[in-house]
Amino acid sequence: MLGEAIHPSAATGNRAMTQAFAPRPLAIAPSILASDFSRLGEEVRAVDAAGADWIHLDVMDGHFVPNISYGPDVIKAMRPHTKKIFDAHLMISPCDLYLEAFAKAGCDHITVHAEAGPHLHRSLQAIRALGKKAGVSLNPGTPISVLEYVIDLVDLVLVMSVNPGFGGQAFIPSAISKIRDIRAMTAGRSIDIEVDGGVGPDVAGPLAAAGANAFVAGTSVFKGGTQEAYKTNITAIRNAAAGARGEAI
Ligand code: DX5
Ligand code: ZN
Repeated sequence: MLGEAIHPSAATGNRAMTQAFAPRPLAIAPSILASDFSRLGEEVRAVDAAGADWIHLDVMDGHFVPNISYGPDVIKAMRPHTKKIFDAHLMISPCDLYLEAFAKAGCDHITVHAEAGPHLHRSLQAIRALGKKAGVSLNPGTPISVLEYVIDLVDLVLVMSVNPGFGGQAFIPSAISKIRDIRAMTAGRSIDIEVDGGVGPDVAGPLAAAGANAFVAGTSVFKGGTQEAYKTNITAIRNAAAGARGEAI
């Protein structure tokens, strides 16, 4: 299967093939949802210093998901605290009305849910037109076929491994085979495959082996509550994923 060829452990020494299908870089993306909201700027700086690659921003509207978090103004307030990529995950419906506000707030990736409205293609076009990377998130029950006719507009696929709305939920294992299928579907394209929900060092290896390159982690990063703890937690996830990718730790 072509999708398998991108994985370094599957490489057979064919240099051209390995380079053409080089895996996307590993990214650990702490979810700010699990941080201390009374010290948002400090928490962003702490995970930056602790080795985060992206900062994952969960936006919830109390309508698409049964919880409310924060919006563009709060993201704008976090922006000066780090130069790292702002990876926004919009769990809102409708979303099109607000895309410009999230772009102006400093988001680099803007991910919308495939289930959030009837016009996924239009939303992705709008995100690209704002000069941002466009992501599509899939709930655990959503098939990957929704990606088929929008794939040329997709920079990132965010696979939910919990039902969205809350941190601290148990990982849903079917995400692993879903990621494997998305890897096959996206082979040869520059598309990040990100996984979100219940992710820690215990599942990061199998997820990386299946093809995920970006790992959202809330509870498992912010446990301990100090920059030192965040560093230990991020390193544990990174090492588990890098090991499964056959990369030096
Ligand atoms: C859930 C959010 C996640 C959440 C992950 O709806 O999209 O990003 O914060 O939290 P943990 O890692 O605790 O499952
Ligand atoms: Zn998220």
